[in-house]
Formats: sequence, C-alpha cells, structure tokens
Amino acid sequence: MNILVINGPNLNLLGTREVEIYGHTTYQDLVDIIAGHAAKSDCVVEIHQSNHEGEIIDIIQNNYRNFDGIVINPGAYAHYSYAIYDCLKAINIPAIEVHISDVNSRESFRKNLVTKDACKAMISGLGVLGYTKAIDMLIRGEHKS
Ligand code: DQA
Repeated sequence: MNILVINGPNLNLLGTREVEIYGHTTYQDLVDIIAGHAAKSDCVVEIHQSNHEGEIIDIIQNNYRNFDGIVINPGAYAHYSYAIYDCLKAINIPAIEVHISDVNSRESFRKNLVTKDACKAMISGLGVLGYTKAIDMLIRGEHKS
C-alpha cells in the first residue's frame, strides 16, 4: 500500500512550538516515526509539509493517482479551508485527518472542523501516534467501516 502523508502550516516547527501542547517530538522525529512504522508495515509513504494552502492542494492533485490513501494534518487549515475540503472530495482515494492535539478541548475556533468532513475519519489528541494509527486504519481498511 502507498500512502501520501501531508502536514500543513507550522508543523515544521514541532519540537519547539508550544511544547506543552504538541510535545518535544521534532518534525524530523515525526518523519522518522512515520517512515519507520511504514517500513515495518510493508507500506510505502511519501511525506510532505507545506505552509501554503495552494501548495497542499497541488501536492494532492499531482500525486494522488500514485497512492492508495492520504493521511493529512491540515494544521489550522482544518478549521477553514474549503479549498482543501473540495480537493479531498475531488479525489477518489480515502483520506484520514490527524491532529496531534485534542482540537475539541482547546479554543472554540478549533471545534470548527471543515476538512474532516471530506475525510473518512479524524484522529485527534493521540500525539504523533495519531499518524501511525491513521496508517494502520488505511492498511486494515478500517476507514471503510
Ligand atoms: C493541529 C491543530 C490545529 O488546530 C493547529 O492549528 C495546528 C496543529 C494539531 O496537530 O493538533 O497547527 O492540527
């Protein structure tokens, strides 16, 4: 199985960004965790990060044909990007949305979740393990149930 992993704005700052919320795992640690888990699971991953909405859309549009599923942490775009929502709706592979923090127990604007409605499932509040869980869900086909 081939999985495209996309991280949105500010996730490149993991490790120094609001560590009380996001933890001390750096972005490079996250990449290594995802790649290591994929290798153990006999799965190929390609991991991207972008701070730009249009670039995230370009990554999805230009690559989705080569993948069986998407794991996406849209960062703050999760709360208001109808453009990423439309893009995820426009493609024919499943996406799972991940948030490191528990978005429902933070500021009220984070409870507004736009892109998740274009995804098969959302995982929030499991820290970086949310990404490995999302990969497992795609591998096991759990997003279908
Ligand atoms: C986040 C949650 C978002 O609300 C926030 O804007 C982020 C990170 C998370 O992974 O918990 O940038 O997506």
